[in-house]
Amino acid sequence: MRCFRHIATAGALFASIANATLQIIPGATWTATNTGKHIQAHGGGMIKVGSTYYWVGEDKTDGSAFQNVNCYSSTNLVEWKYEGALLSRTSSGDLGPSRVVERPKVIYNKSTKKYVLWMHIDSSNYGEAKAGVATGDTVCGKYTYIGASQPLGFQSRDMGLFVDDDDKAYLLTEDRANGLRIDLLSDDYLSVKSATYLWKDSIEAPAVIKKDGVYFMFGSTLTGWDPNDNKYSTATNIAGPWSAWKTFADSGSKTYSSQTNYILPVGNNFMYMGDRWVSSNLMRSTYVWLPLTISGTTASMKNAVNWVVDASSGSMTSGPSENTYEGESATLAGGAKSVSCSGCSGTNAAGYIGGSSAGAVTFSNVQSSATTRTSIRVKYLNGDSSQRFADVSVNGGATQRIAFIPASGDPNSSVLNAGLKSGTNTIKISTSDGTWGPDIDRLMVPQS
Ligand SMILES: *[C@@H]1O[C@H](CO)[C@@H](O)[C@H](O)[C@H]1NC(C)=O
Ligand SMILES: *[C@@H]1O[C@H](CO)[C@@H](O)[C@H](O)[C@H]1NC(C)=O
Repeated sequence: MRCFRHIATAGALFASIANATLQIIPGATWTATNTGKHIQAHGGGMIKVGSTYYWVGEDKTDGSAFQNVNCYSSTNLVEWKYEGALLSRTSSGDLGPSRVVERPKVIYNKSTKKYVLWMHIDSSNYGEAKAGVATGDTVCGKYTYIGASQPLGFQSRDMGLFVDDDDKAYLLTEDRANGLRIDLLSDDYLSVKSATYLWKDSIEAPAVIKKDGVYFMFGSTLTGWDPNDNKYSTATNIAGPWSAWKTFADSGSKTYSSQTNYILPVGNNFMYMGDRWVSSNLMRSTYVWLPLTISGTTASMKNAVNWVVDASSGSMTSGPSENTYEGESATLAGGAKSVSCSGCSGTNAAGYIGGSSAGAVTFSNVQSSATTRTSIRVKYLNGDSSQRFADVSVNGGATQRIAFIPASGDPNSSVLNAGLKSGTNTIKISTSDGTWGPDIDRLMVPQS
């Protein structure tokens, strides 16, 4: 059974094994610090203001129809606070019931001092194919919706934005009838001015970056909610010529089961942001964020179970080695008991967590060689179709609520970000409100 997968082949970005610190754990449940729920920012983008990152994406709590364009903030790219919705469902119109509002992206116009939000606006059967725009005075405040149209008269589905070094901004837009387009926006960023480039290829989920004078366009082929091997094309002029499409993740991995939504510059490096869509229950879709290596005209990306990003310098290093602690071997109290679980390590898990008798599992021998704030992977099962929750206390401290999106068969991970002290630590998992928590297969705790 695999406990920890070393990242031996990922090249320079993974040159050193980092000290334990907060980690990005792709595909896990990511709990917002102030909601206790799985982050809802799908198909999103990122904008940095000062030293804070703002993550803007789709709320899929109740399925595919538009609910909110959500905004979360973080200074370390791991711990995210819910700030509010930029736009929310209205009683009618473009943002009304049963509407499609997807792939929101925000850029800032220094002259008008407006944050400008572009998004895919559509009817529930995707028959309208428009790009919509809204503006805000603060990055995570309420935005004013302006309207939507087909840019230059062409269909527009998945979209992205790119601001070049000269402050010119571009809409990246999928025109199903003709291909993938780059269109120049007007100076105020509020309308589309002219066509810049067209690929006559069927590519969606577009994202552009530029490094050392080379533009990279990333995107996926059209396989609906299912992932495919995403691709990129390069150019030294945004108007082309652009190169043929190439893959950047391991061939056949379907981009590690994800679809591009944004590429984030961090320092001089880049982080891939992808969605691992779960079409049957979109709220449980997860986020696959990985270091993207850009060199010359080449982009490449390796998978990782966990990895460490320095949100200010952009350094990206491999995750720490972990110790494993089995739920069924920990102290079970208040009705919690060992339950059999074929997909679990040790074929058992700690079950009956929470409930009316506040079942609890306590791991009292959790070792750390450092006093550090770190990310612990809680391997769990949740056979429901909605998320469960647990209240976690480390070394007897205040509880924090973490979420567990549905997972049956094989355990999934939920990320617990917590402070450990050097030596022996105690981690207690229970619920305080009578609800059932997840079954806990094991904890995977950084050694140092
Ligand atoms: C949960 O784990 C299963 C099995 O490892 C995996 O197939 C699935 O993609 C995971 N779910 C999510 C939402 O990542
Ligand atoms: C913002 O909008 C103005 C027009 O109002 C334009 O002149 C300017 O170049 C835009 N971009 C930036 C980055 O300020």
